[in-house]
Parts: sequence; structure tokens; C-alpha cells
Amino acid sequence: MSAPTTSEAGTHGARGPVWLEARGITKQFGAVIALADVDVSISLGEVIGLIGDNGSGKSTFVKILSGVYQPSSGSLLVEGKPVRFHSAADARAMGVETVHQDLGLVDSMSIARNFFLGAERRKGPFLDLKRMERETTAMLKEIGLGNLRAVGQDVSKLSGGERQAISIGRAVAFQRKMLILDEPTSALSIQETQKVFEFIRAARDRGLAVLTVMHNLEQVRDIADRFVVFYHGHKIADIVNTGQSEADLAHYIIEGKLAEMGVDRDQVDTGVVRAITAE
Ligand SMILES: Nc1ncnc2c1ncn2[C@@H]1O[C@H](COP(=O)(O)OP(=O)(O)OP(=O)(O)O)[C@@H](O)[C@H]1O
Ligand SMILES: [Mg+2]
Repeated sequence: MSAPTTSEAGTHGARGPVWLEARGITKQFGAVIALADVDVSISLGEVIGLIGDNGSGKSTFVKILSGVYQPSSGSLLVEGKPVRFHSAADARAMGVETVHQDLGLVDSMSIARNFFLGAERRKGPFLDLKRMERETTAMLKEIGLGNLRAVGQDVSKLSGGERQAISIGRAVAFQRKMLILDEPTSALSIQETQKVFEFIRAARDRGLAVLTVMHNLEQVRDIADRFVVFYHGHKIADIVNTGQSEADLAHYIIEGKLAEMGVDRDQVDTGVVRAITAE
């Protein structure tokens, strides 16, 4: 079954073509249905804010998109062609960069070494540190992070926001198509969050598709072009950000909107309600 979306709405001017499509994704862990028949399309040049209560399936979905989990059923398409991500490396090779909560940075290594983690420059059998530092400096400058710090410094000296910036910068520099962030700002100050949002917007404006999981509704209103709402493993809303209030979004996440439609929670759990599409 396929859920309607607002992808035709066209209210986000810079939004490009659909890059990745998840169709009918279901994920079971034993008796637990973490995701039930979820359809989501992700376009280049847009930021999707994925929201939903604890346990609604957000991280499971992120892990399927980034190759960590295989779906129990359903399929993924990239540029309209079916793909299978057997591993995180597989997804990365196809253009999906995921910034996990722990960020995957190595504290004891320099900014430059972290930037090139898994893609090290070499001179014969040796690491070409000078070249990695030079290229990191140039790339950080190009993406507006020029005055971050000396790239030879250890990552352990960076703030949470700066660490996020390195991870996002890496996705841009290596020309990934899609950037996934799982709760990128949960540990950040307001100022740092704003900085990270600037980097996310810059990535989007360079044409990346961005999907970010967020708990904070005030923040997600600030950054998302579109909201996708999960509820007990179902996608119950897929709506363009037209300035809905925090309270409106909270209603999707809990039961308000469903009650408004005369639908109760039990029906959602059994999959009667597949999607609410609204502006
Ligand atoms: N590896 C696993 N084994 C068994 N059950 C799992 C596993 N991963 C997730 N689940 C279950 O799947 C459901 C969805 O979990 P998921 O982590 O995707 O939720 P979430 O929306 O990310 O929640 P949160 O906001 O708390 O991070 C939950 O009921 C969870 O207990
Ligand atoms: Mg989670």
C-alpha cells in the first residue's frame, strides 16, 4: 500500500528531483514491528525533519537508509532504480553519509585525519599527512568553516557543534548525495545549534538531500522544509513546513490529529490509517 505525500505541492522552490525512495518498508524485530509499510521520498535540495515519539521507529528507519539494517520487506530506490544497502559502506558508496549520534569521529586523531577517515591520502605506503591537512583546510574554507581551528589539532578539542560541522563538511566535501543526521543538536547550546543549522542549510543549498531526526519541535520548525511524522512505526503525516506551530506538530505526534479525524489509536496500531496528508 502506498501512502500519499505532498511531493507534488511544489511549495519549496529549490527542491530538486526525488533522489531516494523508500517503498513499503517494514522492519520486524521478532514480534516487534518497528516499521510498518513506510513510504518516504527524499529529494535533492530539501531538508526533511523526521519526528515522532520515543520508539516510533525513527532510528530504525535511519539505519535502514544507511545500510545498518536490512528491511524485512519493502524496497529502496535511488534515482528510480532498486538498490540494496548491505552495509554502511555500501550506502556511503551510493552517496548516503550518515552522522550518527556519536558522530563517528576519533578523538585522538586530528581534524584532518578525521576528515579523511576511510579515504586517506597516501604517498606510496605512507599516509600523506601534509596533503590531507592542506586539502582539509581548503575544503573547510570552501564550505565556510575556514576559521574553525588548525586542522592538525585533535578532534577532542572541538565543541559538539564543531564536531557536527566536521561531519557535515565531510559529506559535502566528498560529494555525497544525501546526508542523514540522528538527533544532531540534542547535546548542543542554542548558539551551536544555530551554527549547525547554517551548515545543514549550506549542504541543502548545494543540492544534498538531508534527513534529520529531531526531538525538539521548535528546532525542527526552524530547519525542515518538510516534516515526516512516525507514530508506532507508521508514517502518519508527510507535510510541507508552512509554519505550523509547535502545538500542531505535537498533535501529529500524539493523538490530537487522529482524534480530530475520528480515528483512534487502536486503528493506527492495526494499520487502518496509513497516512494523513495535510498542508
Ligand atoms: N535491535 C532491536 N531489537 C529489537 N527491537 C528493536 C531494535 N531496535 C529497535 N527496536 C524496537 O523498535 C521500535 C522502534 O525503535 P527506534 O529506536 O527506531 O525508535 P525511535 O523512534 O528512534 O525512538 P527514540 O526517539 O527513543 O530514539 C521500538 O519499539 C524499539 O524497542
Ligand atoms: Mg532513536
